[in-house]
Amino acid sequence: MPSPASQPTSRPAASHPALETFEDVLTARIGRRGMLIGGAASIVAGFLGGPFRGAQAGAAPVSGAGAGGGGTAVASSLLGFGSVPNTGLDTIVVPDGYRATVAYPWGTPIDGSAPAFKGDASNTAQEQLLQFGMHHDGMHFFPIAGRDANDEGLLVVNHEYTDDGLLHPGGMEPWTSEKVFKSQAAHGVTVVHIRRRGGVWSIVPSDLSRRITAFTPMVLSGPAAGHSLLRTAVDPSGSRVFGTLNNCANGFTPWNTYLTCEENWNGYFANPGGKVPGADAATAAVVLAAQKRYGVGAEDAGYRWFEHDDRFDASVHPNEPHRFGWVVEIDPFDGSAEPVKRTALGRFKHEGALCTEAADGRVSVYMGDDERFEYIYKFVSGGPWRAALDLGDSPLDDGTLYVARFEPDGTGTWLPLVWGEGPLTAANGFSDHGDVLIRARQAADALGATKMDRPEWIAQDPTTGDLFCTLTNNSQRGTEGRAGTDAANPRRVNNYGHIIRWREQGGDTAASGFEWDILLLAGDPASSDPAKRGDVDGDAFGSPDGLFVDPDGRLWIQTDISTSTLGKGDYANMPNNMMLAADPGTGEVRRFLVGPRGCEITGITMTPDQRTMFVNVQHPGEGASDRSDPAAPTAISTWPDGAGAGRPRSATVIIERIDGGVIGT
Ligand code: FEO
Ligand code: CA
Ligand code: CA
Ligand code: CA
Repeated sequence: MPSPASQPTSRPAASHPALETFEDVLTARIGRRGMLIGGAASIVAGFLGGPFRGAQAGAAPVSGAGAGGGGTAVASSLLGFGSVPNTGLDTIVVPDGYRATVAYPWGTPIDGSAPAFKGDASNTAQEQLLQFGMHHDGMHFFPIAGRDANDEGLLVVNHEYTDDGLLHPGGMEPWTSEKVFKSQAAHGVTVVHIRRRGGVWSIVPSDLSRRITAFTPMVLSGPAAGHSLLRTAVDPSGSRVFGTLNNCANGFTPWNTYLTCEENWNGYFANPGGKVPGADAATAAVVLAAQKRYGVGAEDAGYRWFEHDDRFDASVHPNEPHRFGWVVEIDPFDGSAEPVKRTALGRFKHEGALCTEAADGRVSVYMGDDERFEYIYKFVSGGPWRAALDLGDSPLDDGTLYVARFEPDGTGTWLPLVWGEGPLTAANGFSDHGDVLIRARQAADALGATKMDRPEWIAQDPTTGDLFCTLTNNSQRGTEGRAGTDAANPRRVNNYGHIIRWREQGGDTAASGFEWDILLLAGDPASSDPAKRGDVDGDAFGSPDGLFVDPDGRLWIQTDISTSTLGKGDYANMPNNMMLAADPGTGEVRRFLVGPRGCEITGITMTPDQRTMFVNVQHPGEGASDRSDPAAPTAISTWPDGAGAGRPRSATVIIERIDGGVIGT
């Protein structure tokens, strides 16, 4: 990252107020939400006297789902819209009084004009490099200093993966190096400069608009940079890498950079034969154990890149997998700045990266590792971020990585992943601190962290300081020698998932301890089966994934019900994925949006005035397989192009209230 002095003047001043003391937060909450009867008192009781939900018994009753409209009946709720029903329609459904406009589907030219998307997928790889990638995921809207923050900004969008059945004419037959090139070009991140004129958002030509792909040159930085496990034949320095991939959720920093997260990167690598060329026996054993722990095996997940690009053949380049699984920082305000992989934040299957600021100016980055029985992590910078930037250093290169342990009594501890401390020693096979970060999962195993039900997004309520993490689902507790239930993951068969909540000691995001409870167990409140009912106060949902708290404290929940499960079994009443909003103070949940067929809803950001919301629709038209039948690309969905569509397309959608009001109120 360049120093602040060299950054373009269009960068807005840092705008994230530090979290203050618990009392300050509480006072602010009372000021904001004084009408919430019993709300403030119950929060105190919740932390001093028992579980949060029980403490909310004194809250005023709220009307059920479908009421809405902002009337007096819902005075105690943040939710002012009428909930929408579950549908299996091939369209987006939003509440009365709202509209959803498709804005930036896969293939949209990033300069706003060319090259045009071709519905038969015959755009070349070179053309794809100038267009939005495939399968949009996390994103953020950055206002530009000196411009109207609500009418103009940079939209940065992740592209998680590709459906190569749709990406090429004829799908994956035959499989060629040109198709690998296009697939890699459709991965990564898009930065576009957008502006609203006459009520319509459009892309404007800009030096800042760019694509970052699976082969964009970038930097490895922080404590593990240069480590022997990161060196390859192409990069003997261990500090330069090509590309980022499987960019799932995201974050952003107080200094206005974007964080993109490498999730299921292991699926791009194959190690046929289980070889580690050029390594001594001891190193080979370490490398193979790490490949097993992170899911690199004889076969890849079907991307087939390694067949034409030996960088993804781990039997040829055994250290290349170590160069993925990081959080990557991108400066959207400098179109020539190389992205940087921040190794201090640890290597795992990163879902997202929520960056918060503590009272003393240190930053904390909260991160989930999305796989069954994996962990929740937190990085805390070594010093205040402003001081680090003033010295030309990154606040994300120096600090401590922690992993969470949830105790049954409602307390929790952040366990440090520091080489030489506790079990993280040479005697236990950890050679140095870089090794601890590269093999963070194994270090967290050694520390005895709590194995969670697939940690996805993490969000913080700015009105209370409370933190939330979606635990999307896990049906394998107690099976085949796996961990059984625990207080933080209480369902043996957790097909619907849950949302956990915690508050750091003293309201300080740099604290080493916290108190926690479960905000809700997802499910269908109408079910007669207690195992399926959950404890949702409001509308049925399951498999929570995307999570965002708006400035009022409204908790937006996006679902990722597997397309092999939608409309079946436990999800018989949920044919399509959706987005809901919850009031964490009352516990009420209302369905706000239902997506088109075969899609997942993921990625959310707003303009500062909360009157424009951007939401991503990922993989519309996906069936039981991740890869569509190229002979029938529109068999399940024609969204968003409708009749005559060549292919369904992931897209960014703009949500507005027709009267121009604040969304959700
Ligand atoms: Fe890419 Fe865990 O969702
Ligand atoms: Ca996700
Ligand atoms: Ca998911
Ligand atoms: Ca997904």
